[in-house]
Amino acid sequence: MLWPLPATKPVPAALRKRRRSAVALLPAVVLVAALFSSAALYGAQAQASKPAEAKPAEAPPAENKPATYVGSETCQACHEDIFKAFQKNPHWVVQTDKRRGFENNACESCHGPGSKHAESASAADIRNPEKLPPAQTDRTCLKCHLNQPTHVGRLQSSHAKNQVSCTACHAIHRNGPNGLVARKAPAINELCASCHTSQWVRFQLPYKHRLPEGAMSCVDCHNPHGGFRPGQMQYFAGNEPGCFKCHGDKRGPFTYEHAPVRFEGCMTCHEPHGSANPRMLARQEVRYVCLECHANLPLSTAGAGTVLGVVPPAFHDLRSPRFRNCTICHQKVHGSYVDRMFLK
Ligand code: HEC
Ligand code: HEC
Ligand code: HEC
Ligand code: HEC
Ligand code: HEC
Ligand code: HEC
Ligand code: HEC
Ligand code: HEC
Ligand code: HEC
Ligand code: HEC
Repeated sequence: MLWPLPATKPVPAALRKRRRSAVALLPAVVLVAALFSSAALYGAQAQASKPAEAKPAEAPPAENKPATYVGSETCQACHEDIFKAFQKNPHWVVQTDKRRGFENNACESCHGPGSKHAESASAADIRNPEKLPPAQTDRTCLKCHLNQPTHVGRLQSSHAKNQVSCTACHAIHRNGPNGLVARKAPAINELCASCHTSQWVRFQLPYKHRLPEGAMSCVDCHNPHGGFRPGQMQYFAGNEPGCFKCHGDKRGPFTYEHAPVRFEGCMTCHEPHGSANPRMLARQEVRYVCLECHANLPLSTAGAGTVLGVVPPAFHDLRSPRFRNCTICHQKVHGSYVDRMFLK
């Protein structure tokens, strides 16, 4: 059975909420932050310039002290459910392991020092990474996750540049397949498709990689965290296209390379997301793919007869159906070990 299109399928409420909050709340957050910082500045100046007795009574000095770390057990008192669930979270090691720098203060490793909030129980006194501007959210996580192998170049990714922060894809306190990290192919596809509907549509075409069946996921080809190849593509063996991970037979090195396979990439002839054409070709028949480069003559002037693609060689008479399916003869179109013409 095919998966229903995400367009017709409601995006999970939590995802929707998270996306909306990321966009809609941004100006609000910036504004509030600006207000806070200017208020704090103003307060500081006022204190500096005025004698102590002129200070307004309703602002006791303790209020101006930065919050301090109080420990996760303090949080537990009011956030029992979250605390309990957190013990099964991979981040629990932050709580227990000295070397991570936040022993017993795991909650505050992301939420910042919590003494004020623990007293006031007000949302305004605690940092919620999800409500920060995306770049700041990323920085909160990157404090610890900066040098992971799958994350090379992450901040150059389209996601980071387009305000899609870590928490758009990773929900720290949510269990389930789209929770902390989606690992199973269907869950990953659901996550990606929730934003990339137009790419998901391509996978509903007759010839495609089997993502809707859950046999593969977007992450087999793309690194969601970014990378050095265009399109956030995965690599294989250093810096080669990730396609070779599965299509190793196309890799070579061949004695006789077909130039575009080596130099222009698979996308010259294929549409890897899906296509209406067999073999996911970019054109509806093989010959049209080939003739884009191998026919520099338009159809027939009187002298040449009705021969398309006479150069070279003239014996390719395309009036004859025999010559239309190029790969019947040029079988090794991705490169050959033995034949310069890719015939075998
Ligand atoms: C005295 C009880 C109490 C303690 C202790 C407490 N909280 Fe809270 N916390 C609350 C309440 C109540 C809310 C809901 C506030 C609201 O929605 O206005 C809340 C909300 C939050 C939020 C959500 C804020 C938002 O913007 O939505 C976070 C994050 C949070 N707490 C983290 C912590 C952390 C971390 C600690 C430990 C350092 C902690 N809390 C300790 C009562 C507490
Ligand atoms: C690795 C970072 C991280 C750690 C550690 C962490 N949180 Fe959170 N917390 C978040 C993020 C991000 C959110 C925003 C919602 C989400 O992504 O799940 C959040 C949201 C919350 C909320 C608001 C929940 C809601 O439904 O809006 C509370 C309360 C909270 N955290 C409490 C805690 C407590 C208590 C601990 C320790 C037991 C803790 N957090 C540890 C990152 C963290
Ligand atoms: C205080 C350091 C610290 C902070 C801050 C932090 N993490 Fe982590 N994170 C860890 C540790 C430690 C692990 C456990 C896995 C490991 O050993 O690398 C982990 C694991 C993870 C995993 C992988 C879990 C798995 O099953 O492989 C994800 C995803 C993750 N963190 C996302 C985030 C996000 C998103 C944020 C920001 C909201 C964040 N982390 C903030 C330390 C941190
Ligand atoms: C567009 C969605 C997306 C964004 C944005 C994103 N991630 Fe991920 N992340 C994933 C997916 C999907 C996986 C699982 C990859 C896999 O299984 O190969 C993952 C895996 C991880 C892991 C697990 C370890 C690993 O390398 O496989 C960590 C840690 C992590 N992400 C941290 C982060 C941090 C930190 C950020 C923000 C700077 C971030 N991610 C942004 C989708 C995303
Ligand atoms: C919260 C929404 C959101 C989610 C979830 C999301 N993306 Fe994106 N993605 C974007 C935005 C926004 C852009 C930048 C604009 C664009 O190119 O469409 C983008 C860009 C991309 C690009 C284009 C890179 C380029 O350089 O052209 C790739 C590839 C991509 N995402 C893959 C993924 C994968 C794989 C997943 C799932 C792990 C995923 N995205 C999940 C929003 C999202
Ligand atoms: C078989 C490999 C493969 C799979 C699976 C795959 N992609 Fe791609 N995708 C590509 C290639 C190749 C490009 C072109 C990269 C380039 O620009 O060179 C691309 C480009 C993109 C782009 C850039 C805009 C565009 O359409 O050209 C986005 C966004 C994207 N993919 C999202 C996704 C999402 C979301 C999924 C999962 C539903 C997915 N891809 C699955 C290979 C794949
Ligand atoms: C994770 C493994 C994997 C990766 C990575 C991958 N493919 Fe595939 N590909 C497959 C499988 C499996 C099939 C067979 C699908 C089927 O039978 O439905 C396939 C089929 C194809 C086909 C069509 C073959 C046919 O007989 O119709 C083409 C063309 C193709 N892949 C190109 C690519 C390109 C280009 C890339 C890189 C952008 C790529 N693949 C990356 C696994 C992969
Ligand atoms: C010059 C155009 C061209 C380029 C570039 C190209 N292909 Fe192909 N590919 C074709 C044609 C044509 C077919 C159909 C062959 C047939 O009809 O038997 C095909 C078929 C395939 C098939 C399915 C049949 C088979 O031989 O296994 C796969 C898989 C495939 N290509 C993968 C790739 C990958 C991976 C790349 C990039 C390394 C790539 N192709 C680059 C033209 C190309
Ligand atoms: C993107 C352009 C492009 C496409 C599409 C393309 N080719 Fe090529 N092909 C080349 C180039 C460039 C060469 C190298 C020519 C040279 O070395 O003089 C080449 C070489 C060849 C050769 C060897 C010729 C020689 O003199 O060494 C054959 C045979 C061939 N292609 C067949 C095909 C077939 C069959 C297809 C369709 C499946 C195809 N090509 C698609 C660009 C292309
Ligand atoms: C019936 C088998 C057959 C078919 C079908 C066929 N070719 Fe060829 N092609 C050959 C042979 C044999 C040669 C080698 C001719 C030679 O050595 O002079 C060749 C040579 C070529 C060359 C290289 C010419 C040169 O001298 O550099 C190109 C390019 C080429 N074919 C493209 C195509 C294209 C494009 C198609 C499809 C429209 C196609 N062929 C269909 C048998 C075929």
